[in-house]
Amino acid sequence: MVEYRKLSEHTGAEILGVDLSKPQPRDIVEDIKRVFAERCVVIFRDQKLTQPQLVAASALFGEPGQYDLPVEHRTEEELKQLPQIMMITNIRKDGKPIGALPDGEMWFHHDMIHSQNPHKATLLYAIEIPSWGGETVFANLFAAYDDLPQEMKNRLEGRMALNAFNYGAQFRGDPNAASTRRQAVHPAIRVHEETGRKAIYMDRLMTHSIVGLPQEESDELLAFIFDHIEQEKFTYEHKWRKGDLVMWDNRSSIHARKDFPAGEVRLMWRTTLLGEAAPARSVAAG
Ligand SMILES: [Fe+2]
Repeated sequence: MVEYRKLSEHTGAEILGVDLSKPQPRDIVEDIKRVFAERCVVIFRDQKLTQPQLVAASALFGEPGQYDLPVEHRTEEELKQLPQIMMITNIRKDGKPIGALPDGEMWFHHDMIHSQNPHKATLLYAIEIPSWGGETVFANLFAAYDDLPQEMKNRLEGRMALNAFNYGAQFRGDPNAASTRRQAVHPAIRVHEETGRKAIYMDRLMTHSIVGLPQEESDELLAFIFDHIEQEKFTYEHKWRKGDLVMWDNRSSIHARKDFPAGEVRLMWRTTLLGEAAPARSVAAG
């Protein structure tokens, strides 16, 4: 059995004694997958990985996806990375960020919920981190669903939600975001393929409306949901150290980034794992 320790009541587990630069026995990988499905987030400390090793480590848990930013929006430096790697950094060249999502706070979101086939998990590896700030806060949305009043579960049952994202947006109305926008309709409540549990599948950054409800009712319901799912009791806040590799489940959790100093370097590599089943269903015509 792999050794691990829980990091909060509902969310996060630190996996102990695993060096992801080396091949891992199948039973260890299966153990980690079980812990991951339940805790939504797993953390491996003190990893030393090259880009190919990060892609290989990601492949232990699923099929790595390609970075989804349209090529025309990529910087010269981004084009030099492996195709699976998104470079998240505030490093600048001639005043322009060389990577994605450079500065400061980012609202709670599910990675790629704006896509028809969202990738099921994200792995983020810390190369350079600032002296303070930049923490990632994760919330377990199985626990948040279970905690909803029954009346609210009934209101959401069978509903679909519209999710949209302008590339690079760190909050709603971000002036630095690209004009390119992707959107997708997914169930408001998502059944997790591995655990069979229900999780809320909406977030403050990307979910715009609940399909088929009058705007006012949709806005009121979403405001309640966003406040509900971001409650501290569902969260784990990760304070990054160099060499941390964190993997989170985009089907059952949301995450947000806290502010950090603009004058200090933050550099992370991100990979994702392809989803096994598309949660999107077409909305009946008429
Ligand atoms: Fe994210």
